[in-house]
Amino acid sequence: MTPSPLLHSLPLARWAGPVPASTCDRAIAALEAGKILFLPQLAFAIAPDESDLLDPAVSAAGRKNISFDTATGEIGNVAGNPSDAARLKALLVRFAEQSTGLAHGLLPRYRAALEIGRTSFRPVEIAGREYSPRHDDRRLHVDAFPSRPLRGKRILRLFANVAPDGAERAWQVGEPFAHFAGKLAPKIAPAFPGSAWLLAQSCITKGRRSAYDHVMLQLHNRAKLDDRYQRGAPRSDLRFPPGTVWLCFTDQVLHAALSGHAALEQTFYLPVEALAEPATSPLRVLEKLLDRPLV
Ligand SMILES: [Fe+2]
Repeated sequence: MTPSPLLHSLPLARWAGPVPASTCDRAIAALEAGKILFLPQLAFAIAPDESDLLDPAVSAAGRKNISFDTATGEIGNVAGNPSDAARLKALLVRFAEQSTGLAHGLLPRYRAALEIGRTSFRPVEIAGREYSPRHDDRRLHVDAFPSRPLRGKRILRLFANVAPDGAERAWQVGEPFAHFAGKLAPKIAPAFPGSAWLLAQSCITKGRRSAYDHVMLQLHNRAKLDDRYQRGAPRSDLRFPPGTVWLCFTDQVLHAALSGHAALEQTFYLPVEALAEPATSPLRVLEKLLDRPLV
């Protein structure tokens, strides 16, 4: 991959082990500045007897994502026989453990507050599929969850390309969050009074949405649905080859995944207070922009 100012590359080749404090500090500064940490020498190893699990047919019909919940041990959207599901689960547990070890070693400042979220496997090719615009991750967006209110917590995601056929994962990365939010956030009307309570009561959301969740979800939806923004927004192309890892705050980095298959993804959540520079968080940027508290 050609050098990009949006990437901060690190020569780490092991998931565990000591990382020099100066490297950790630079990694955290880069992440919080809205860059992508790129680890071109770090591969997630797939055993020879696991290679059949990388086939797109392992995913239940029509589903782009096999999801594993580390808290409950449940795995969803797997096609095929129970033994495939058990082997895939073992692979995802290993990926979750190695990802967590890496996050703890590389980002020690976050360690005590870091929450481990879902582990995902995306076996299906992104390009050429049909999506509704709102669900089309090939459109530039920041991540926000309709059913899981975060109340300002950060979304940190770690990705590994494990494609067995050499396919790169092609991304586009957009403008800085503050520029993006400055264009769209002032146009967002507050949520309908009582709607957060109603969504939580109806179990559509796990807990009550804050004003922050409402604004972030609107930013996600409006960016994806705005054809003019999608056509004209500044962006850079990035390509992640198999055998590499990258991580970023996906609630801050405008991103689009254009093509690729067989990627693993680990989600973490982090309270704003755990950041070295909380002012860089979407919560604080939006509160400053809108001149009101959002949680
Ligand atoms: Fe995303």
